[in-house]
Amino acid sequence: MYDFSYKNINKVKKDPKDYLVFVKRLLPRWINGIPDSECIAIFETLDLLRKRKKSKLFLAETGCGASTIAMFLHCSLYGGKMFSWDTNANKGSFLRSVLSESIGKSLKVDVNEIWEFIGFDSTDPHIGMNILKEKKVKTDFCFFDSWHTLKHVMSEIKSVESSLSKQFILAFDDAYYKKKNFNFSYINMLRSKMKLKKIKEPVNNNCLSFFVEIEKYLKRKYSSVKRLKSSYKKNFKKDIFFKYYDADRKFMNSLGMEEKNKLSYRYESFFVKK
Ligand SMILES: C[S@@+](CC[C@H](N)C(=O)[O-])C[C@H]1O[C@@H](n2cnc3c(N)ncnc32)[C@H](O)[C@@H]1O
Repeated sequence: MYDFSYKNINKVKKDPKDYLVFVKRLLPRWINGIPDSECIAIFETLDLLRKRKKSKLFLAETGCGASTIAMFLHCSLYGGKMFSWDTNANKGSFLRSVLSESIGKSLKVDVNEIWEFIGFDSTDPHIGMNILKEKKVKTDFCFFDSWHTLKHVMSEIKSVESSLSKQFILAFDDAYYKKKNFNFSYINMLRSKMKLKKIKEPVNNNCLSFFVEIEKYLKRKYSSVKRLKSSYKKNFKKDIFFKYYDADRKFMNSLGMEEKNKLSYRYESFFVKK
């Protein structure tokens, strides 16, 4: 079902980002959670890191979807392994079939050799991201896109920290969010489907934008922390993803799940040396 023929599979190595967008656009909305420009930026971030480290990379992510495709294509072309956590096991199962029928078949790679999916809470003490240390993985890159509160993202960072390699990149979706303990935008989206009244967000649920809080934390802890530039900032305005999904994004905007004027800070990443 997902084995659509790409125009020129022999040229994938020459222009992998075009192929990445081709596969991404086969996805239905429920699993296509990030813009094309962000998906490309993830792929470019991985390229940059691989070239700096001159080695295969170990990747991790929380919240799977289109981001998984970018990371999987990178591993298929250049080696490396990846781990994804998502509490929605259906997403893992669905993505496994998409990856296998598209990139797996075309590039002759075995999905199960590259990708481990863990259908559980990323911060669980027994099967969350901290198992990477137990698996003796040195994590080079991590993309965080699961439950968008500062409390949860920080506990994901702490969970993966024990496995991080000497130089690593941490990347974040919705990095401009300022939700400290509860994600009322998401909660209100679910409440509105249940015809329940919207809950007013308390002031004490506010923190600084995640990327500011996270940069402060990383700078306190590590010897070198650099916020990276990415092509996302330049390209998101002309990304057709936003127009294509305009109708449901209008609803998301009304609940604060997406804030138009802050979108340029949606994808942020840090290159860190221990
Ligand atoms: C915004 S979506 C991820 C989008 C995806 N990165 C993409 O590129 O399409 C967020 C995902 O996080 C998952 N999630 C929420 N809380 C989680 C948790 N505590 N641990 C792991 N996954 C979680 C949800 O099931 C959902 O699939």
